[in-house]
Amino acid sequence: MSRIWKEEWKTFKDVFDQFSERNLYKLISNRTIDGLDAPVSIGKEANIFTAKKGGESVIVKMYRLSTCDFNRMYDYLKLDPRFHVKPSKRQVIFAWAKREFRNLLLARESGVSVPVAHCVLYNILIMDGIFSGNALAQKLIHEQLKNPKKFFDELVGELVKMRAANIVHADLSPFNILVSDQHPVMIDWSAATTKENPNYEEYWQRDVKNVCAFFRKIGVNADDKNILAMLK
Ligand SMILES: Nc1ncnc2c1ncn2[C@@H]1O[C@H](COP(=O)(O)OP(=O)(O)OP(=O)(O)O)[C@@H](O)[C@H]1O
Ligand SMILES: [Mg+2]
Repeated sequence: MSRIWKEEWKTFKDVFDQFSERNLYKLISNRTIDGLDAPVSIGKEANIFTAKKGGESVIVKMYRLSTCDFNRMYDYLKLDPRFHVKPSKRQVIFAWAKREFRNLLLARESGVSVPVAHCVLYNILIMDGIFSGNALAQKLIHEQLKNPKKFFDELVGELVKMRAANIVHADLSPFNILVSDQHPVMIDWSAATTKENPNYEEYWQRDVKNVCAFFRKIGVNADDKNILAMLK
């Protein structure tokens, strides 16, 4: 173990299980990342850290093996024809992380504003960090937008691209939209799915309604019925 890794381990050891720690060490040994930098967020299902990779700063998202809501994950996964998962806790979490990775690639290919995904190893996903100026970008829910109407219009542009590509985020809200220099970047794609999913249309309507409800609260004339009619 390098000295740096030992230091990191001391700082973060309470949030890692042994399996994740081993795989994190693998990612450092094979130079996928140089090492962890700092914790960013302890979320509902995952712990997020910044890490260095060469000169750039990346994000390491580690789905927790113990406190994830497997039943919710499995309920989502079993309707996604791209994945065939047995209802075993670990397999569900690994598929969940892989699904976020694949969704990020798919969204990116379709020109949607998302972080570039680098790789996934079991429950660990590595992607580009999203910045605003020199600092990590913040969630829309915590930001004061300079021009909410402009931001909303841009977000509708993103929805148009997602709809054309037959992808739905399925958990879109001001908690999963980052504000990068006043532009939207959507994160947290693990629940996202494609048109073949029988719930595709229901998720789509929910996403559009959630986003519009938030923008109405901050004074934008955001009409979900209009958007849903426009993007049939
Ligand atoms: N690529 C990224 N660039 C910058 N910050 C990020 C990135 N990915 C995640 N984050 C930060 O980590 C937080 C949690 O990420 P994410 O939403 O993917 O995980 P989560 O488990 O759903 O957490 P939460 O319960 O907070 O939604 C984000 O709100 C954001 O602040
Ligand atoms: Mg989230």
